[in-house]
Amino acid sequence: MANQPKILAFAGSARDASFNKKLVKIAIEGARKAGAEVNYIDLKDYPMPLFDQDYEAKKGIPENAKKVKKMMVESDGFLISAPEYNSSITPLLKNTIDWASRAESKDEPPLSAYKGKCAAIMSASPGGLGGLRGLVHVRSILENIGVIVLPNQRAIGSAYDAFDETGNLKDEKQQSSVEGLGEQLTQLIKKLK
Ligand SMILES: Cc1cc2nc3c(=O)[nH]c(=O)nc-3n(C[C@H](O)[C@H](O)[C@H](O)COP(=O)(O)O)c2cc1C
Repeated sequence: MANQPKILAFAGSARDASFNKKLVKIAIEGARKAGAEVNYIDLKDYPMPLFDQDYEAKKGIPENAKKVKKMMVESDGFLISAPEYNSSITPLLKNTIDWASRAESKDEPPLSAYKGKCAAIMSASPGGLGGLRGLVHVRSILENIGVIVLPNQRAIGSAYDAFDETGNLKDEKQQSSVEGLGEQLTQLIKKLK
């Protein structure tokens, strides 16, 4: 379908048992039900060095960063579940955003992976605030590089108890509100397309 919204979905955690990987998969279901084509990636499969401008000048952009960036460029939007580290964004997520923000040639327009894209953000944490403070920073970073971030977001606290054995949220209202983020992102992209 030519007009079908294309969404790239990932979590800002590499951890195998990541709560945020579970959470973003719930939002993916909502997006798919609303008609989006969603590509889920695990950032653990795309290891990249810590951004260093000298490294970039000598060796260029790492292959895995190019791969992730290409998938971003080809998407209309992002579903991102972002864990909170020390009240902020994880180094994995920031590093990925930074590498994908770099142009690969002089002719490439700035921030081609981000400008005009839409995103929905969410978080899960064992703590009571669910990673809410980190989302403030994630939202700010994305908006400053040209991404339209949905006003709605979800932060799921007490994450050790929040998910059932299938990876869904035990609380039905939480489950449908996270699915709703995927649905709302899809609807927004459809309107903009
Ligand atoms: C370096 C570090 C800092 C953390 N800081 C916070 C924090 O500020 N707030 C919070 O709610 N959880 C914090 N946590 C706990 C994470 O929320 C928890 O490890 C969570 O499981 C990470 O997400 P994941 O399950 O998707 O990997 C921190 C964890 C680490 C490793």
